[in-house]
Amino acid sequence: MANTADKLAASALEAVDRMDFSKSRDLQPKAHRLIPGGAHTYAKGDDQYPEQAPGFIARGKGCHVWDLDGNEYIEYGMGLRAVTLGHAFEPVVEAAYKQMQLGTNFSRPAKIEVDLAEVMLEILDGADMVKFAKNGSDVTTAAVKLARAYTGRDLVAICDDHPFFSVDDWFIGTTEVNAGIPQAVSRLSLKFSYNDLGSLRRLFDQHPNQIACVVLEPENAVPPAPNYLAQVKDLCEERGAVLFFDETITGFRWHLAGAQKFHGVVPHLSAFGKAMGNGFAVAALAGKRDIMRLGGLDHDQPRVFLLSTTHGAETHALAASLETIRIYRERHVVEFLWKQGERLRSLVHRSVAENRLEGFFGLAGRPCNLIFFTHDQEQQRSQPFRTLFMQELIRRGVIGPSFVVSFSHSDADIDRTAEAVHGALVVYRKALDEGVAKYLEGRPIKPVYRKFN
Ligand SMILES: Cc1ncc(COP(=O)(O)O)c(C=O)c1O
Repeated sequence: MANTADKLAASALEAVDRMDFSKSRDLQPKAHRLIPGGAHTYAKGDDQYPEQAPGFIARGKGCHVWDLDGNEYIEYGMGLRAVTLGHAFEPVVEAAYKQMQLGTNFSRPAKIEVDLAEVMLEILDGADMVKFAKNGSDVTTAAVKLARAYTGRDLVAICDDHPFFSVDDWFIGTTEVNAGIPQAVSRLSLKFSYNDLGSLRRLFDQHPNQIACVVLEPENAVPPAPNYLAQVKDLCEERGAVLFFDETITGFRWHLAGAQKFHGVVPHLSAFGKAMGNGFAVAALAGKRDIMRLGGLDHDQPRVFLLSTTHGAETHALAASLETIRIYRERHVVEFLWKQGERLRSLVHRSVAENRLEGFFGLAGRPCNLIFFTHDQEQQRSQPFRTLFMQELIRRGVIGPSFVVSFSHSDADIDRTAEAVHGALVVYRKALDEGVAKYLEGRPIKPVYRKFN
């Protein structure tokens, strides 16, 4: 194996010489001059990628993308996990295009709003009403607002182990990047730990009758302990709080109906986004009628201003979602995501063992949503090693901030990725032995949640 590994490392070095990022490099200063951060989403920013990385993507097809300089890559976690079928996936593009020709936005609702609502509620057990929006942040924030109105309470209990819920103040105010957010707002959000029912119970005990809702992803990198989610629900009901599952990632991945279906625990409210429209901007807040109806016209409570925006129900995004759901059902997309993730996982595990990297590099999460961890010689989380690994993947034609697969990742794509991973891990091993600085070209990636640049 050492020979194969050495050959892979050598062929990687040849690849470096061939990779040209000059057009990307020319455009980057302009992007930073015109756009704060040089990109509209922080997760896509230059500080999240190695220096030796493509600056801009020109186009994508399936799970392949081409950068501005014409370099081709297999991509993972496409569109921040939104593009689950594949880039430019023809039936979805076609459905959206057909709808665009009929008009995208009118003075009164379009019938397609009702059509998608019907389909979503058919999919989701225990949800009675649904409202659409353009992104996950809006629907998670709407859930918090509804829960506050419904309970008449101000505090929100947020799971501390889950990385992201919303761009809005109730969540970002709890992170390091809290500039511009009044402390009075941040103080209303409290933190509990996942899989630690006691930590949530303590919050309820410390703030009796003040917590409006409990916010968590049903699952992230770590699975729920047996019965944990059901116990969280029982505790919420006992203390009069709303249980809200953020299924922005887990929805359409763990199961079409989300991790709530996978784990058999129905929350009072849940949010879907990302994969709903294969990259088209569509998200949904779904839940129990007695809560959701506060955003409606048929009650005598104070009205909740619920998700009313100009672009909220653009018809072509709803058409994309209907078609995405049709394809999921017809072609068993979720099963495929799990299968391909499993294929990649077993190949990566083999390379980890061959390079004696147990404890230094590894995978976490379900096969449908694999992430990797990178540790240094002391087995501590390491951004330099993450950067090095991503740099070495890019050299070998893979953009991999995660290993989140799509319906377009064929066996051949997975196998090619596994070869790239193997080559990258050969370098990783050397960097552990000889020092990461010797192999890392440029500065390391920085954490997104940091106070200063
Ligand atoms: C779990 C989770 N919730 C909510 C969001 C916010 O979604 P959006 O970026 O569409 O506003 C994200 C985005 O990454 C997410 O991962």
